[in-house]
Amino acid sequence: MGAGYVGLTAAACLAHLGHSVTCVEANPDRLDVLRGGGIPIHEPGLGELVSEQVANGRLRWAADVASGLGDAQIVLLCVGTPPASSGQPDLNQLAEAARQVGRAATQSLVVVVKSTVPPGSCEAIELICAEEAGLGVTIRVASSPEFLRESRAVEDFLSPDRVVVGASDPEVIDLVASLYPPASPVVRCDRRGAELVKYAANTFLAIKISFANEVAQLCDALGTNALDVLDGVGADNRIGRQFLNPGPGYGGSCLPKDVSGFIALGRSAGTRTSLALAAQEQNLHSRKRIAARLGEALGTLTGKRIGLLGLAFKEGTDDVRDSPSVQIAEDLVASGATVSAYDPLAPRTSTPSGVRRLMSSFEVIDGADAVVIGVDSEEYRSLDPVKVAEVMSGDVVFDASGACDLVSWGRAGLTVYSVGRGTPSTFYPVVWPPLCWTVGMLDESVY
Ligand SMILES: NC(=O)c1ccc[n+]([C@@H]2O[C@H](COP(=O)([O-])OP(=O)(O)OC[C@H]3O[C@@H](n4cnc5c(N)ncnc54)[C@H](O)[C@@H]3O)[C@@H](O)[C@H]2O)c1
Repeated sequence: MGAGYVGLTAAACLAHLGHSVTCVEANPDRLDVLRGGGIPIHEPGLGELVSEQVANGRLRWAADVASGLGDAQIVLLCVGTPPASSGQPDLNQLAEAARQVGRAATQSLVVVVKSTVPPGSCEAIELICAEEAGLGVTIRVASSPEFLRESRAVEDFLSPDRVVVGASDPEVIDLVASLYPPASPVVRCDRRGAELVKYAANTFLAIKISFANEVAQLCDALGTNALDVLDGVGADNRIGRQFLNPGPGYGGSCLPKDVSGFIALGRSAGTRTSLALAAQEQNLHSRKRIAARLGEALGTLTGKRIGLLGLAFKEGTDDVRDSPSVQIAEDLVASGATVSAYDPLAPRTSTPSGVRRLMSSFEVIDGADAVVIGVDSEEYRSLDPVKVAEVMSGDVVFDASGACDLVSWGRAGLTVYSVGRGTPSTFYPVVWPPLCWTVGMLDESVY
């Protein structure tokens, strides 16, 4: 149930693995696109896989579970769990889906919750299903959170680092594990444990990104290169280099929501989540810092024409949910700048208010006082800096995402600011006097 990034990917991949799948989608617009042979999201390789599985008859569509359930043994809930104002996810879609399954079931089955939910939710969903189900129908609920990354969803689903399955009954764990690619490493646990794995994993990834940004801010202040420093740090096998990349902060539909969920969990369980809170605070600062530093570089943002490359939360996706680039655009507009933006995939309706949407990188760069690269994508990496310098009105580029080769862009006469790559180092003077410290001349009053 749910044909979003998780549900549609799961449906197509499970069909590819040989299962017979009916994908239920409640949104009529999304369903029309699917029935018309398209897919309603941008996800590399997914359209082809969906067409293949529809053609071979293993994948079908339904508007509701009552018409789609048939004699299914397993129902996967992949509906949205957007953040509510409390930091906890809004579980209304999930509760409604559980009620629909309970009402539609005519035989016993297993419900697998793939949506990200707080520990205890599967138990609550089992109660909701039981309330709705008829006599003699037993619905057992398992947790199997999804770890796929947007833009690599198919690859991640078919070659997972691990599959996590939580259930109260070993037989149910075996049944759910048997859905996935045969060689997948399986972590078997109880339901609350499986539910928590997802929050803990995303919070740890967020902490890594925020730590990389913390190091990058130090590097900016000291005039050194954070990529080198993080290479040195991440080469330690105990730490690892992945997710240690400085930039405009984490975003998207998962990390910010799941860190908030982790913190809210701690609050309700009465435990400390100080690392998660710090990651969240650092992330907000990392985002806000981009427009603030650009303002310092330009003297003022008021009346400046700024071109923004990228609106989605990362390369290769159309998803702008909680995107750092959108925050940068909003901060620039709020400071009085005139902002135009380009993104090849993000829907036009997702353009932040007050921002003019243009059709190409060069339209955005043309006549701009400054350009911000908000997303690290091949398209922006391959821009010719000489041409960029020719068509811009000013010469300031803020490479928030680490897309540019700073040397060649600098040679083209552009002044390139970055997150943690040390240039121009004079912009942030060295903040402490190592020499004085070394020779014992430390003046405490300086600090
Ligand atoms: N997007 C990701 O990268 C990702 C990765 C891992 C986990 N998750 C989690 O998976 C869940 C789904 O995320 P998503 O990004 O795929 O969401 P999404 O919003 O893209 O898709 C959810 C879909 O469910 C449909 N839906 C809602 N109620 C329904 C119902 N009763 N019957 C049928 N369809 C229904 C909606 O119309 C929507 O199309 C969330 O809990 C999310 O946190 C997402």
